[in-house]
Amino acid sequence: MLRFDLISIFPEYLSPLKLSLLGKAQNKGLLQINIHDLRDQTTDLHQSVDDTPYGGGAGMVMSPVVWGDAIDEITSNGQVIDLIILTPAGKKFNQQMAVKFSKCDQIIFACGRYEGIDARVGDYYRSQKNFRVHEVSIGDYVLGGGEVAAMVIIEATARLLPGVIGNPDSLREESHSISGQDDQQLVEYPNYTKPAQWRGLEVPQVLLSGNHGEIAKWRRSEAERRTRNLEQE
Ligand code: ADE
Repeated sequence: MLRFDLISIFPEYLSPLKLSLLGKAQNKGLLQINIHDLRDQTTDLHQSVDDTPYGGGAGMVMSPVVWGDAIDEITSNGQVIDLIILTPAGKKFNQQMAVKFSKCDQIIFACGRYEGIDARVGDYYRSQKNFRVHEVSIGDYVLGGGEVAAMVIIEATARLLPGVIGNPDSLREESHSISGQDDQQLVEYPNYTKPAQWRGLEVPQVLLSGNHGEIAKWRRSEAERRTRNLEQE
């Protein structure tokens, strides 16, 4: 069972992980999500987790001492652990990465705040043979912290696990539209449901035809059209 551990100074910020698809998946025992408060590792009166940057500059940097202690505490022996450090300087998250993460045993998310986490945390765990370290960004913008980014990655990853999504056919259809054939990256075709007419707008006739070959062709060409339009934006 895939186990997600999140470390944050705002554990309450992560409470949506109990809801909806992810909540149900945890209740069914399909995955585990554990949330840890970084401040539990502090030993000083003020429970400080950060300090001024060496070399000067604005902002504060999160301490490697508290982060190391927090990560060690949830490290179980034996299995490989994937440590994801959320940072706008990381590799851009995408569906392929979600597929890879869905095959892991335990993923620890280090949700940093401020100017990020002391760089030695990544270096240290990269040197440990039971760890794989990934620095990941969810997009080219700067968030206040890694919490929302971790939730994005968990949502995209967890729905790929067997049993999490009610109808596994929807995953199969998506994988066609996302990884595409011939390695082309296509977005999904548009979807419609009843009523057939709504505010003067009609559902494309081909979808009402019952001709599965024509429907598949139409969806493919719509996916290509949408993909071309995105590229032109
Ligand atoms: N922390 C701040 N900005 C971020 C981003 N874009 N992705 C991941 N973590 C972040």
